[in-house]
Amino acid sequence: MKNGKVPNPNNINPISGFNNIIYVKPTIKNPNIIVGDFTYFGDDDFESSVTHHYDFIGDKLIIGKFCQIASGVKFIMNGANHQINAVSAYPFYIFEGWDQETPSLSKMPIKGDTIIGNDVWIGQNATILPGVHIGDGAIIGLNSVVTKNIEPYTIAAGNPAKVIRKRFDDELIKLMLKLKWWDKSIKEINDLIPILTDNNLEKVKKEISTLIENK
Ligand SMILES: CC(C)(COP(=O)(O)OP(=O)(O)OC[C@H]1O[C@@H](n2cnc3c(N)ncnc32)[C@H](O)[C@@H]1OP(=O)(O)O)[C@@H](O)C(=O)NCCC(=O)NCCS
Repeated sequence: MKNGKVPNPNNINPISGFNNIIYVKPTIKNPNIIVGDFTYFGDDDFESSVTHHYDFIGDKLIIGKFCQIASGVKFIMNGANHQINAVSAYPFYIFEGWDQETPSLSKMPIKGDTIIGNDVWIGQNATILPGVHIGDGAIIGLNSVVTKNIEPYTIAAGNPAKVIRKRFDDELIKLMLKLKWWDKSIKEINDLIPILTDNNLEKVKKEISTLIENK
């Protein structure tokens, strides 16, 4: 490949001499954060952008491959939510001296795992709330607060994030979700780049249909 170099998903700094863009997967230490190959972050410390993520809750942040996560993005996990179904939301159990044990998880407002698909672009300073699912190929505008699930290949933005538009027509979205280019080998993806980066979408549609038919 280019200059004899092969893309290496285990290389933390994939741009020589530039340490503020990292491939996330090789930096992860927390077993409840699972990140796919080639997903990158526009800063040098990804785990600090995942907040209120406590082992006793056990919720997971699962991010697919080839996601583009800008600097300032925050993933808020379930530990952030106080007991809003009790008359006081004060978390007595985390402070020393008060007579309260950690409440059972059934008493906590647990929204489940946060799941981000593949090839998702999350704009600068966006915040993703607990339990949100963002589909493959979605785009989240900068400064958004994502409170609800976002469908694949959908652009959403704002606080709360609302759908701006679908990126492509239903036919092309279906083809992309069948193609799943992110699951192919590095060599296959490299060969697909001319199609993946062509904005003549009618031509792309035909080429992807042919690829899928000939599989
Ligand atoms: C969302 C984004 C990709 C633009 O998408 P687009 O489809 O071209 O959107 P447009 O600019 O045509 O705007 C469409 C509407 O969405 C609104 N909008 C766009 N971005 C928005 C944002 N971040 N928050 C709130 N509203 C936003 C526009 O005001 C417009 O509203 P209107 O229809 O009421 O006039 C872009 O605005 C963005 O946020 N990019 C992220 C950049 C970034 O963070 N880069 C970091 C380096 S990786």
